Amino acid sequence: MDPLLYETRDDQIAILTFNRPDKMNALSTALLRQLDDTLHQIEADPAIRVVILTGAGEKAFVAGADIGEYAGQTFAQFVDYQLNARRLFDYLAGFPKPVIGAINGYALGGGFEIALCCDVLIASRSAQFGLPEGLLGLSPGGGGTQRLTRAVGRYVAADVLLSARRLKADYAYQLGLVAEVTEPDQLMDRALAKAGYMLRVAPLSIREMKRLIRQGLDSSIEAALSLEQEVLFRLYNTADAAEGIRAFVDKRDAQFKGE
Ligand code: COA
Repeated sequence: MDPLLYETRDDQIAILTFNRPDKMNALSTALLRQLDDTLHQIEADPAIRVVILTGAGEKAFVAGADIGEYAGQTFAQFVDYQLNARRLFDYLAGFPKPVIGAINGYALGGGFEIALCCDVLIASRSAQFGLPEGLLGLSPGGGGTQRLTRAVGRYVAADVLLSARRLKADYAYQLGLVAEVTEPDQLMDRALAKAGYMLRVAPLSIREMKRLIRQGLDSSIEAALSLEQEVLFRLYNTADAAEGIRAFVDKRDAQFKGE
């Protein structure tokens, strides 16, 4: 069985489904490799404008690294897995197209880390987020301690990490982690609706605004504000900005070309 399913909607939206439902979609080496390959394929495909990540089945988005694989690994293999996962998650966090996490169940360990690399999260009411690595005598290695802390602050992050607390969807929404909570059977429709809104925004604007959000979190406010204006001035001189402004004046929908 393919550990990652890839389908498209309207030729513009890619839906990637983690597909090991009998193992709670745990991140095997094969699944990570396929995710890496598929993301590169999507990056190179100009038709695809938005990516949706979700999990197969009703129970899990992704329940973390494949602990079964951990059990049979040498230290060198473990290190290799972790370095590879970190590189892949960094790639996902900086992906040039918007990524929506449609969180259909448990997002634990590496699953939560993947969610934290998405731009927008929509969660089924049954979703739960957690970083339970401490229960295995380990700690997160794919950004969990750092991206969660930046997303929700040190006290919530410490609570999640130090007590292996799972955050339920409604609470994740209150924290601002999740944009929307839906009934399970509405999840993909809501994710597709969000993707539809993103399709109306100019692709270069999306790419640059993603970068501004990410880089701004790690910069001084002065440096980030300067970068913001540099980006705006660059975008102003693009064909898409000319089209967007002209379309508004002409009272019609803009036709963006990503240039
Ligand atoms: N790696 C490998 N297999 C996993 C897994 C993981 N991270 N998470 C779940 N599975 C497997 C279970 O071993 C079980 O397989 P089996 O049927 O062959 O025994 C199957 O998925 C179903 O899981 P189960 O634990 O029976 O379901 P549950 O509903 O009782 O509990 C979870 C679900 C997600 C709460 C629980 O499986 C869990 O805590 N998983 C580990 C989460 C974790 O520690 N992640 C961080 C890893 S670093």
